[in-house]
Amino acid sequence: MTFQEEIKRRRTFAIISHPDAGKTTLTEKLLLFGGAIHVAGAVKSNKIKKTATSDWMEIEKQRGISVATSVMGFEYGDYKVNILDTPGHQDFAEDTFRTLTAVDSVIIVIDAAKGVEAQTRKLMEVCRMRKTPVIVFINKMDREGKDPFDLLDEVEAELSIKVRPLSWPINIGQRFKGVYNLFEHHLDLYTPSKQIITESIAFDDINNPELEEYIGETDAAKLREDMELIEGVYPEFDPEPYLAGDIAPVFFGSALNNFGVKELLDCFVKIAPSPRPVQTLERVVNPEEEGFSGFIFKIHANMDPNHRSCIAFVKICSGKFERNVNYKHVRHNKLLRFSSPTAFMAQKKEVVDEAFPGDIVGLPDTGNFKIGDSLTSGEEIHFKGLPSFSPEMFKYIENADPMKAKQLNKGIDQLMDEGVAQIFTHQNNGRKIIGTVGQLQFEVIQYRLLHEYGAQCHWEPISLYKACWIESDDPAELENFKRRKFQYMAVDKEGRDVFLADSGYILQMAQNDFQNIRFHFSSEF
Ligand code: G4P
Repeated sequence: MTFQEEIKRRRTFAIISHPDAGKTTLTEKLLLFGGAIHVAGAVKSNKIKKTATSDWMEIEKQRGISVATSVMGFEYGDYKVNILDTPGHQDFAEDTFRTLTAVDSVIIVIDAAKGVEAQTRKLMEVCRMRKTPVIVFINKMDREGKDPFDLLDEVEAELSIKVRPLSWPINIGQRFKGVYNLFEHHLDLYTPSKQIITESIAFDDINNPELEEYIGETDAAKLREDMELIEGVYPEFDPEPYLAGDIAPVFFGSALNNFGVKELLDCFVKIAPSPRPVQTLERVVNPEEEGFSGFIFKIHANMDPNHRSCIAFVKICSGKFERNVNYKHVRHNKLLRFSSPTAFMAQKKEVVDEAFPGDIVGLPDTGNFKIGDSLTSGEEIHFKGLPSFSPEMFKYIENADPMKAKQLNKGIDQLMDEGVAQIFTHQNNGRKIIGTVGQLQFEVIQYRLLHEYGAQCHWEPISLYKACWIESDDPAELENFKRRKFQYMAVDKEGRDVFLADSGYILQMAQNDFQNIRFHFSSEF
């Protein structure tokens, strides 16, 4: 196979959802189709139980297990599919944001009864920022849920994306009979089963009277009526706006019952993009280029505290990656060689000799990398920073053991490089503030500082509403703002100015008073 063909056949994507919508179940069914696993239930061990919020050690253990399932690669027909796993727990949402920078497309799972939920909205924002193509899978059609047209309206309104159904449900809940596949013109009839693939009948003409035989008179009439409405309201499916991130094809099904999943996968491999050109600070990098380049989007700490080694996950953006070849670590300007890079196929981690654009390779690391680092054949290129979002929770971090100040600082530095949380240094008093997405991360940081660095910390409360990055085209105005708001100013890890608003009111006042200052809620602007 040629280098170009290798690239063209790769589909690297993530499944995202609000917890409980069915991401794990869908992932598992896709892996079953890909032959990557053989029994249902194999992926469950990776799932972080929502009840275990206080038992976060267990969660970390599960995250340890999830190294193996961080990337799940499998062959499907002519395609090489790479699913990037995202943590199920909301407190690790930041990990998910970063994973989204390494995918070429996304499948969003929505619960038919619950519709669009908070986490989905947030994740979609990230997709929109990066113009990532998305496909929507509306799950749990075997249960009573919302009306499919209402669901489509909700997706359009809440996720700010146009939609185009490519399959359509025939009834719902107890009376759910199947879907009409508009992409391939098939009638897929529902047989509730966790293992058996459903019956699929080629059915080009919805007006064919045979439809009544399969689904009965009432549902046939309703389906014809719905089809007419769909054709009238939604434009013909066109891959271009989908690839541009402007329109999302929608599928209906039930992951648990393995219904509509194969249809989704078959369509997905056909329409989803192979690795696309990536914008770096210097230029656009094309996957077909000969020179290797990639960036680190995730660092996974070793669970064994005695070996402070990590796995750094690199997304290959161009060229071929080879084992035992020198590559340039751009930030350190030094050459690194990897004797045991790993890839993840069929849930097994194995040493690989080569990998192609779209693939993810795990590199054993002892602190060389931080998130966002570029690795190349020699060229000085920097992949654009991965976005950090304004955290939701803030606490001062204080040293609890004065003899271990050095260890504490080193530990904090490395954990932040790993992307565990964000750190801000207050300009007013020099104190360090840790910002997280959830309470769990504070516990994780405290535990890891103690067990990996021998340092002790304690937390002190700080009442903050939002941290936002500020910038302005008018340097005098910026200086004026920083002077006037001195008690609210901090810098992030990279030394950028951050405004710490302690209430929505303070933020709004600042926005009103300083019209020439831009306030950003994500670090990528
Ligand atoms: P998540 O990863 O998005 O958090 O969701 P997950 O797949 O774990 O699914 C959440 C719950 O929804 C699970 O039930 C799962 O069995 C159920 N589920 C997933 N897809 C469907 C579907 O198509 N129809 C129906 N009726 N249920 C579905 P649970 O009771 O929380 O877990 P479990 O005990 O079944 O493992």
